[in-house]
Amino acid sequence: MASMKAQARDLAQAFGLRFGRAAVVSRAPGRVNLIGEHTDYNDGFVMPAALDFATLVAAAPRADRRVRVYSQFMDETREFDLDAPQPAGDHAWSDYVFGVAAKLEEAGRRLAGADLAVWSDVPLGAGLSSSAALEVGAAHALLAASGLPFDPVEAAKVGQRAENEFVGMRCGIMDQYIAACGVAGNALLIDCRSLESRLVPIAPNLRLVITNSGVRHQHAGGEYNDRRTACEEGVRLLAPHLGPIAALRDVAPEALQRWRAALPDLIYRRCRHIVTENARVLEAETALKTGDFAACGAAMNASQTSMRDDFEITCPEIDFLADFAQGLDGVYGSRMTGGGFGGCTVSLVEADAVDPMKEALVAAYRDAYGLTAEVFVCQPSDGAGFVELGGV
Ligand code: GLA
Repeated sequence: MASMKAQARDLAQAFGLRFGRAAVVSRAPGRVNLIGEHTDYNDGFVMPAALDFATLVAAAPRADRRVRVYSQFMDETREFDLDAPQPAGDHAWSDYVFGVAAKLEEAGRRLAGADLAVWSDVPLGAGLSSSAALEVGAAHALLAASGLPFDPVEAAKVGQRAENEFVGMRCGIMDQYIAACGVAGNALLIDCRSLESRLVPIAPNLRLVITNSGVRHQHAGGEYNDRRTACEEGVRLLAPHLGPIAALRDVAPEALQRWRAALPDLIYRRCRHIVTENARVLEAETALKTGDFAACGAAMNASQTSMRDDFEITCPEIDFLADFAQGLDGVYGSRMTGGGFGGCTVSLVEADAVDPMKEALVAAYRDAYGLTAEVFVCQPSDGAGFVELGGV
């Protein structure tokens, strides 16, 4: 893999050929979530890390108020008029760029028109947040082209709004937040209510191993929104008993247990995943900070079980990969990562156990499903910023 700087230079060169001027290059990463799934839109806790896979956006301002964006992957250029913004997307890759442009303007950021060129090596549709990387990369690039400052948390909020209101996916803020605010060598414990975060260093002997099942279930967007609706229904039904609660964040596991009868079984199980998952994220944070990797792994394994049985967002291929990895030497824990219904698992692994783990997992998955699992070792990376093109 060419270095990010070499990729950025290539992109700036392609930009020059296409648009006839020099560009600056912004970068925003994909993410892996160690633990805390579907807790973000319940005002809860998550613990993702930014990946070394990233999206690059080359940008230069225009004299008018048009945004023109070229995707190297799609080999297509699309245009958007900042003075006549469409209210919603049209199910194209460019929605993530134009949605962010529209929401930045709505937030009071007066943008210049811009030409943009986009490149990415974040695997698409694998649950590693290629869309958030594009949103945050586009926000960084559009602000840079307009001579405006980049505020990471504001960019995360704008990206989420673009996805909620322009793309139509009711996601939480985790993916955009970590793409904007990630710190190399660390995961972040994010409080999705206060939008504050704490660094969680990844010890040098640990590796975050990502395994792509290659499975991408259809209708995942609809299922995702359904889960969110179920959580909201839980809050509505619990509120008469628990007083003014704004989100499942406000419900302790014991309180949920006490008022179980107030909820239909399905809603109860959805809520149980969220309230127990919030507790597991905090346990995992403490475990990583105190070097108790076995306890962190146990929380990850319990999260996998809860996603499988209570929230029902896994699938047989993912369950197989997580179960198999959990049984291997040097693997502390393994679980599905991301929105669900396919995608990837993340495993917490001793550095010297990674190679045998990879080999065993790929062979077992091929035997069981006839599929080849891709395995990546993640280097926790920085969030959005410029790529310096000069020097070696
Ligand atoms: C997707 C969403 C996030 C989060 C995860 C599940 O990645 O974009 O906001 O809800 O699913 O944890």
